[in-house]
Amino acid sequence: MEEEDAGGGRLPLGAQQQTSNDTEEEEHFHQVCKAYQQYATFHQTKQQGVTRRICQLINTSREQEEMLNNGGDNSTSTNNEDTQHQYPTIESILPPSLHPQSSTNQQYIKQYNESSIRNQYYLDCILQYSNVATSQDVLRQRKQASSQCHEVGSNTLTPTASTIDWTTEDQISKIDSVLKCVVRDWSLDGKEERSVVYDRIIDALERYMPLNADGGIDEKMTCCNDDKCISNNTTDEASESKHQSLPRVAVPGSGLGRLAWEIYSRGYSVQGSDFSLHMLLASDFMLNGCGIPSPPEGEEKIEEGRRSFKQFGICPWIGETKNVMSFEERLRTVVVPDVDPTSLLVTEEEDGRDAPEFSMLAGEFLQLYSHFLPENQSKDNDEQHLKAQDKFHAIACSFFLDTAPSLPHYLLTIYHMLVEGGLLINFGPLMYHWSGHGSLLPGDTDASQSNGGNSSAYQRRNKHLDDRYLSSIDYTWEEVRYMITQCGFEIVEEETYIPAKYTSDNKSMMKVMYDCVFMVARKKSRSNT
Ligand SMILES: C[S@@+](CC[C@H](N)C(=O)[O-])C[C@H]1O[C@@H](n2cnc3c(N)ncnc32)[C@H](O)[C@@H]1O
Repeated sequence: MEEEDAGGGRLPLGAQQQTSNDTEEEEHFHQVCKAYQQYATFHQTKQQGVTRRICQLINTSREQEEMLNNGGDNSTSTNNEDTQHQYPTIESILPPSLHPQSSTNQQYIKQYNESSIRNQYYLDCILQYSNVATSQDVLRQRKQASSQCHEVGSNTLTPTASTIDWTTEDQISKIDSVLKCVVRDWSLDGKEERSVVYDRIIDALERYMPLNADGGIDEKMTCCNDDKCISNNTTDEASESKHQSLPRVAVPGSGLGRLAWEIYSRGYSVQGSDFSLHMLLASDFMLNGCGIPSPPEGEEKIEEGRRSFKQFGICPWIGETKNVMSFEERLRTVVVPDVDPTSLLVTEEEDGRDAPEFSMLAGEFLQLYSHFLPENQSKDNDEQHLKAQDKFHAIACSFFLDTAPSLPHYLLTIYHMLVEGGLLINFGPLMYHWSGHGSLLPGDTDASQSNGGNSSAYQRRNKHLDDRYLSSIDYTWEEVRYMITQCGFEIVEEETYIPAKYTSDNKSMMKVMYDCVFMVARKKSRSNT
C-alpha cells in the first residue's frame, strides 16, 4: 500500500513533501511535523500551568486565611488561635492529588508525563516511518547546538524555551484528533463506532456490487432481482469498465484508512484520499508501518502465539479536561492497531489473476478528481478512453459529504467519477465543516447597503480563516437529496436518523451522537436520464 502524490507518482509521504517546490506547502509540512515533535512537551507544559494556578490559588487562600485570623487587619497581630481552621479553606478542601507537595500529586504528575511520553513515542514512530526527525532527534540537535555555542564561547543565543519555535494549541488539537481517529479506526474500543458506519457501507457495497469468483463484479446478482444492481446495468460504459478491470471503489476523506482497508480486504480495488497531512502521516504508518517483517529464510521463525505486527499503547484522552470522571479515565491506555494492517499486502494472486489494488492520494478532493469533469477532459480520444477505465464503480463516503464548502461541486465531481450504474454510498451527518464562523458573510449585507456593506470589516475580523468559510452554504438533507437526484442519480436505499458517534470517548460525561443519513444512489445511464 503506497501513498501516491497527486500526479500519480509513488513516493513515501515524507519524501513527497521534501521534494515539493511549493514553499507554502513545505512550511505547512514543517508546522505539522513540529506539532508531532512537540506533542509531549506541549501537554506537559500545559499541565505545569495547572500546577502553577493551583499554587496561586493556595497562596491566595493562605493570605485570606491569615487576614481572617488577624481580624481583617494586616497590621495588628492578634492572637485568636481559637478561630484558626474553624472554617474550611480552599487549601483544606483541595484533594491531595492537587496539592503540589503531596505524594499523590507527584504520582499523578509522573503518570501524566508518562502518558504524554507514551503518545510521543507513537508519534515519533510515525515521524520515523516518514523519514522525518523525531522529538528525540530535535532534542539531540538542540543539545548539540547548545554545546557548540559553549565550546566556541559564542555570544549567539543558545536555544532556550523563549527562543524555541513553539507549535500552537490549534496544531496540537489536530494531533489529539488524530489520536482519537486512530482509536476509531484501529482499536477494539472503536469497533462499536465502526460497525454502525463501516459495516453498513460495506454491506451495501457487497449487496449491490458483489464480486464473482474471479474478483470481477458478479453478473448473476442475488441481492436484488431488479435493475437496482450495478451488475444488471447494461450500458456500454459500465460493461466495458466492468470487464476490463476489477471494480474500483473510491473512499474520499478516508482519514485513518480503516474503511478503505476493510473494503480492500473484501477484494475490491480501493483508492483512499485525504487532504490532511496530520491524518496522512498517521494513516501511512498504520497501513504500512506496523508490520514486523518475517525473518529471512533459515532464521528463527516468529514464535507461535507471538504477534507479527507492532502494537502501541496510546492515551488518546489525555488532552481532555472537561466532562472527565476521574484522572485514571483520562489517562487510560488504548491498544492500537487491533489487527495487522499489513496482512493484506498482496501484489498478485497466486493463480496469476490480477489482485485488487490499494492506493492513497494526498490532496484536496475537488483538485484530485477534477480531471473527471467534462470541462477538463481532453479532446484526445485515447485519453478519454483511459479516463473511462479510470472511473470508479462505487464511491464510499463516511462522514465526508459535509466536509464540502460547496456541496454541489462535490456531487458533480462524484457523478463524473462514477461509471454509469456506479454507486454513491453515503453515511454521515450534515455537520458542515466550513460554516459557523460569523453570522454574516461578506456580501450578505451588501444588497441592502449602498456603501458596500460590512464585507471589509468581516474580512478584517476573519482574515485568518480559509476562503472556503466565505463561500460555504449549509443545505438540508432534503436539498442534498434533491441535488443528488438532479445530478442523475436514482436513490435505491435511504435510511434516516441512524444514531452514530464519531471519535467519542465512552467514559466521558459528554457524548455526541449524530442522527445520520444512510443512502445508496445509483448513477443512471444517460439514456435513462
Ligand atoms: C470527519 S472526517 C471522516 C474520516 C473517515 N471517513 C471516518 O469516517 O472516520 C473527514 C475527513 O475528510 C478529510 N477531508 C475534509 N475535507 C476534505 C477535502 N476537501 N479533500 C480531501 N479530504 C478532506 C479530513 O481530513 C478528514 O480526514
